[in-house]
Amino acid sequence: MQRLDGIRAVITGGTTGIGYAAAHRLIEEGARVILTGQNQGRIDDATARLGERAQGFLAQAESPEDASALADFVKTAFGGLDVLFANAGVAWPTPFDAVDLESLQRQMAINFAGPLFAVQKLAPLMGEGASVIFNTSNLNELGMPGMAVYSASKAALRSLARTLQTELEPKGIRVNTVAPGPVETPIYGKLDMPEEQLDAMAQQILAKVPAGRFGKPEEIAGAVAFLASPDSSFMRGAEVTVDGGWSSL
Ligand SMILES: NC(=O)c1ccc[n+]([C@@H]2O[C@H](COP(=O)([O-])OP(=O)(O)OC[C@H]3O[C@@H](n4cnc5c(N)ncnc54)[C@H](OP(=O)(O)O)[C@@H]3O)[C@@H](O)[C@H]2O)c1
Repeated sequence: MQRLDGIRAVITGGTTGIGYAAAHRLIEEGARVILTGQNQGRIDDATARLGERAQGFLAQAESPEDASALADFVKTAFGGLDVLFANAGVAWPTPFDAVDLESLQRQMAINFAGPLFAVQKLAPLMGEGASVIFNTSNLNELGMPGMAVYSASKAALRSLARTLQTELEPKGIRVNTVAPGPVETPIYGKLDMPEEQLDAMAQQILAKVPAGRFGKPEEIAGAVAFLASPDSSFMRGAEVTVDGGWSSL
């Protein structure tokens, strides 16, 4: 008997990075997983590598219509849902004096509105003992140049977890967040920065992390599996920070 036997999970943004590692870990512990992404090829590649307990669904994280379609798919495939890891997100570093409204709104739509609508559409399939997990960031409490909109989107998400807990408590659904520090994932390759600038940013980050290294996606997946499992049954509106000590030392 494994900790997550019989658990039915949805992971948004499960094609790469932390979402993929979480899918791998949840499946390893006995769960079935539906993962989403915005590219069918990457979804097919991820589900093929994860095996028969993984299914994919094409959905833009920021689209309420896609979240409704995802809920229909989950209902047909699983009949109900035990775990939602709302993980899909983007980081678009921009100095605050160069922020424009369009990119601000899009980043907030993906990182904040997306998880909100995912819960809104999927919570009706969830019941007593179910677990919602948001992926925030330790930057929701820290200042870092260029991260005004990203950090604010994650602070909004961290706040949302607390409010949703109060609204979902009567259904017995728990809402918690995992707050990673710097983790080696493809997200850094998507920052649209020249190599030297990326290296400089990595050095700037490393200087702040007592562990002296970036985390691995699997190290975040462990916290996600804990929050998904009954081992965290008394946790409500909490944040598990996994950042090599950056925010606390
Ligand atoms: N890596 C870090 O250092 C770090 C630190 C703190 C927090 N986080 C958070 O962790 C989460 C995952 O990031 P990661 O580092 O694992 O990055 P990643 O490897 O780039 O993965 C991002 C995932 O989200 C999906 N995604 C992005 N935009 C989407 C959209 N509009 N609609 C649907 N899916 C979308 C991607 O799908 P496609 O493959 O289809 O694009 C991919 O599956 C994010 O919320 C990020 O903010 C990361």
